[in-house]
Amino acid sequence: MRRPIVVANWKMHKTVPEARSYLRRLIELVGRDPGLDVVVLPSFTALPAAAEMLVGTPIALGAQNAHPEASGAFTGEVSVVQLTDLGVRYVVCGHSERRHLFGEDDALIGRKVQAVTAHGQVPILCVGETLDERRAGRAWEVVARQLEAGASELGDDPRGLVIAYEPVWAIGTGVAAQPADAQAMASQVRGWLRDRFGAKGDEIRVQYGGSVKPDNAREFLSLPDVDGALVGGASLDPGAFAAIAHAARR
Ligand code: PGA
Repeated sequence: MRRPIVVANWKMHKTVPEARSYLRRLIELVGRDPGLDVVVLPSFTALPAAAEMLVGTPIALGAQNAHPEASGAFTGEVSVVQLTDLGVRYVVCGHSERRHLFGEDDALIGRKVQAVTAHGQVPILCVGETLDERRAGRAWEVVARQLEAGASELGDDPRGLVIAYEPVWAIGTGVAAQPADAQAMASQVRGWLRDRFGAKGDEIRVQYGGSVKPDNAREFLSLPDVDGALVGGASLDPGAFAAIAHAARR
């Protein structure tokens, strides 16, 4: 059975003091043995403080992005090596805001996924179609292309890979996908993972993301092919995020 995984994507929110008070509360709410993987993705600026606070807790630290090269002349970028040094375990690759607002393409995202696994960390590869693509009946074609490119450098070993299916039109809009549509896509993703990685594909966790909140979390987290959630807006409040984590328990 796949262990559920819920991830709090803070995006560009929270100062260091705000991150500290959030984490103090979340640590209390999550307890010692949540029975699932709970991951927090602060901004780069709050990572060192968060790393310190999370030692000895069941909450893992992740980053929202990373550069695939280990070091070099890449002004403004942060490498997987630098993140690993801070205790980061998970790195999001190809979030739709990176793809659409910052022009990241499939090839770059594939290199990021490869760099994260090469350093023994877990990539969370985000995939998802826009509303126009869905209306044109092209949702699966787009997601399949993103999976293909994202996993293109992994050979036949996916290691800890996590996939987050996030329809672009559901992110930050308050309008979540229909659970049946999320299940249909997650099941297609699972089929693809089996074809690509054989039996190891069955161990890969597939999350749903896009306007997940405490009051709809269970609808998504009880779907047979959905193993967790990537949460943006609702994750900014520790009580709301802990409620979503609770709903993911099996
Ligand atoms: P949202 O964001 O929960 O605010 O829709 C999800 C995400 O961007 O990962």
